[in-house]
Amino acid sequence: MTRTVSVTPFKDQKPGTSGLRKKVPVFQTPGYTEAFIQSVFDSLEHYQGKTLVIGGDGRFYNREVIQTALRMAAANGFGRVLVGQGGILSTPAASHLIRKYEAFGGLILSASHNPGGPTEDFGIKYNISNGGPAPEKITDAIYARTQVIDRYSIADFADVDLDALGTFEGGGMTIEVVDPVADYAALMETLFDFDAIRTLVAGGFRVAFDAMHAVTGPYAREILVRRLGVDPAWVLNATPLEDFGGHHPDPNLVHAKELHDLMMGPDAPDFGAASDGDGDRNLIIGRGVFVTPSDSLAMLAANAHLAPGYRNGLKGIARSMPTSGAADRVAAKLGVEMHETPTGWKFFGNLLDAGRCTICGEESAGTGSDHVREKDGLWAVLLWLNILAVRKQSVMEIVEDHWAEYGRTYYSRHDYEAIDTGQANALIGALEGRLDSLAGHRAGSLKIAKADSFTYHDPVDGSVSRNQGIRIFFEGGSRLVFRLSGTGTSGATLRIYMERHEPDPARHGQETQAALSPVVEAAEALADIRKWTGRTAPTVIT
Ligand code: G1P
Ligand code: ZN
Repeated sequence: MTRTVSVTPFKDQKPGTSGLRKKVPVFQTPGYTEAFIQSVFDSLEHYQGKTLVIGGDGRFYNREVIQTALRMAAANGFGRVLVGQGGILSTPAASHLIRKYEAFGGLILSASHNPGGPTEDFGIKYNISNGGPAPEKITDAIYARTQVIDRYSIADFADVDLDALGTFEGGGMTIEVVDPVADYAALMETLFDFDAIRTLVAGGFRVAFDAMHAVTGPYAREILVRRLGVDPAWVLNATPLEDFGGHHPDPNLVHAKELHDLMMGPDAPDFGAASDGDGDRNLIIGRGVFVTPSDSLAMLAANAHLAPGYRNGLKGIARSMPTSGAADRVAAKLGVEMHETPTGWKFFGNLLDAGRCTICGEESAGTGSDHVREKDGLWAVLLWLNILAVRKQSVMEIVEDHWAEYGRTYYSRHDYEAIDTGQANALIGALEGRLDSLAGHRAGSLKIAKADSFTYHDPVDGSVSRNQGIRIFFEGGSRLVFRLSGTGTSGATLRIYMERHEPDPARHGQETQAALSPVVEAAEALADIRKWTGRTAPTVIT
């Protein structure tokens, strides 16, 4: 039986960079989750009888929302839902399932690297049939719908047993509970030389992987341990927990500090990696060397041809605007297209679909390729392992060779989290108001060459996205970027991105923050960060 339930709009359901993100108690408000899911369905057309993929990162409230989404999918006329066993699907695995089974789209339940638990974060994101995040046209339509929605439809049937693999019927719809790992692992086998990686590992190369009690645990056990022979004792925090063990499942130097310390210590394994809540991000650390995500993108792009899936070379490379220019130098050398897009994976979708790029990445620990339409944490780990297996060098040697060839791009991001939204907007507004007059002036010891607010013209569909961050280019090639986060759930988060290119190998051994200090000073001089945020230091430095 299907019911129609009246609801009044919740005016705050604006999907951000990665869908709708709120605290769990907000999603638990009666009708809140239903109003958003119905707004998603109401913004789509011609899905009757088609397939929807549903899965999440296993965080608190995942199972409840999946049961609701199943009942609403049935009531709204979907013909079939594929749902990951236990409600689990990593974001890249969900993207793959949508593509492989030619689904109409998918609902991915995650708040990525944000903490989980009864008072922590939850999120719902809609992905389209190419497997990627819905483009702005659709997220705008969803938001518009949330403003006026007055009812939702839901079928009445008992909870589906998400732990049992198999096919069920609910509200006239077919529900298939599928193995969340199998299809994804098979895809990885087509891209990478598993034999070569197995030989590397069997030869004593030690791999450590921190799943951070998040979704990649089962994937790492199957792929790294069972198929590649990695010592299970080195797959850390491999059991997904609803609250991620009370930690932030965020693979950065703050939240993956244990792994970092291990990798810098005397008994460091040869290779260390971590992924985030929903498995789309990656952290790569070699023995004694942290690889910044911007560098990792460049190094993966320069070496991708060593893996079977990329043997024929790259069609192009894409990076988000705040990501460093290291990859641009690789694209120039390879003679392939380079694209600079706004922050958020959804902007890569058109380029990937049109065959304009093969590899893409973001400074925020996201790297991926045209194999799915999301960033993919384990994919990056496997590509690194494949490259290491073929080059038979250490991570340190590969990094140093790369810098020697292309120069080193020092890079850092300073985040000011949970600051007052009004003050954050005022800081950005004050900068924007001065952009046209900045060229030629000094900021600290640096001279400004050019300043603008980044506008993206999508070369595939012609759409235009404005106000995607403030860019300050300095003479000598350093760059500073200011933007406000689109994924935070409390107050505003100001992100400041700094980079400096250093061609001279004799100067590649500097400490990152020291190497960037002129750019850090310029940021304060330009934006009065202390005054606007009331903070004397960033919350997180990556
Ligand atoms: C952050 C990252 C961005 C990434 C997004 C989703 O968004 O900066 O690169 O695409 O998370 O993982 P932000 O909070 O900066 O809007
Ligand atoms: Zn994520």
